[in-house]
Amino acid sequence: MRLSIAKLPGDGIGPEVVEQASKVVDTVCSRFGHEVEWTFGYVGACAIAKFGDPYPERTHAVCMASDAVLFGAVGDPKYDNDPSSKVRPEQGLLAIRKSLGLYANLRPVETFKSLAERSPLKTELVDGADFLCVRELTGGMYFGEKGLRDGGDTAFDTCVYSRFEVERILRLAFEYARRRRKHLTVVDKANVMETSRLWRAVAKEMEPEYPDVAVDYMFVDNAAMQLIRCPKFFDVIVTENTFGDILTDEASCVSGSMGLLASASVGEHTSLFEPIHGSYPQAAGKNIANPVASILSAAMMFEYAFGFMEEGRAIREAVAASIESGVVTEDLGGGCSTSEVGDWISDKIIRK
Ligand code: IPM
Ligand code: MN
Repeated sequence: MRLSIAKLPGDGIGPEVVEQASKVVDTVCSRFGHEVEWTFGYVGACAIAKFGDPYPERTHAVCMASDAVLFGAVGDPKYDNDPSSKVRPEQGLLAIRKSLGLYANLRPVETFKSLAERSPLKTELVDGADFLCVRELTGGMYFGEKGLRDGGDTAFDTCVYSRFEVERILRLAFEYARRRRKHLTVVDKANVMETSRLWRAVAKEMEPEYPDVAVDYMFVDNAAMQLIRCPKFFDVIVTENTFGDILTDEASCVSGSMGLLASASVGEHTSLFEPIHGSYPQAAGKNIANPVASILSAAMMFEYAFGFMEEGRAIREAVAASIESGVVTEDLGGGCSTSEVGDWISDKIIRK
């Protein structure tokens, strides 16, 4: 089959990890007989530098015309340290999510046996943990009305959710739970927030449609504790945008490194695949970043965008083999470079 993929490396370590992931995609395509056509797009700080816009129209056109988007990371310390900046790299990522209608971000958390000791948590707690975070991605505080008043002395970000938005993400989460261990945890702050009460009410209304799924409700502060106290409790977690952002960084501790967690953003138009980590500017250009999160995002791309489960499995097996063989970057205590890990995984897929 002919696959057309948009390549949006972005900033920081984005280009380095996406280079490894695209190499792996090329290898998988040659092994399985697919033709792949890459189209590059600028996004983030590099797009601001070139076009004055973190998500230029031409990049949007590339994404819309592609079957999938492979995304790296956006961000630059220059903007982090300048709160007065009107235009920011992160706006590019928010714009891409909004304009492609990517309302669901799927972040699976798995553990690798040989890495259980890398987790800051006790081995017996994390060993065998396996859950999926379903993060709502185009609503909540990220997109609600925001601004300044009182001459800049008061700032506000509004958390808004409509029933429609809540129901569609919950439905997706129920469906994933149904295909997994049939346990859904709805995470909210319904003891305080009106939006959370709407989430909880809608979830309760939907429960009878999924009699095979056991549902529990957890306040987000408690969920943050339970995630590291007993990660094996969870199967599918569904939550709103900001809570999901925070909880999934926390959840990466279960796997042992941020550099391992992949994600798929799906919705109305072209799906996008990106690591959950950021642009990690301190490591940019040093060939030390862990490419596995990006490579596993490519595996998710085969599975979710193309329905090619075997291709996805080939990538996952090669990644697992690299980890078991100690071919890992420094975040996992190894001595390999970004490109060495990518080359090893790529070779493994061919050798198979
Ligand atoms: C993520 C990132 C983004 C987010 C940033 C870069 C806007 O942290 O994908 O988790 O907050 O969603
Ligand atoms: Mn985040």
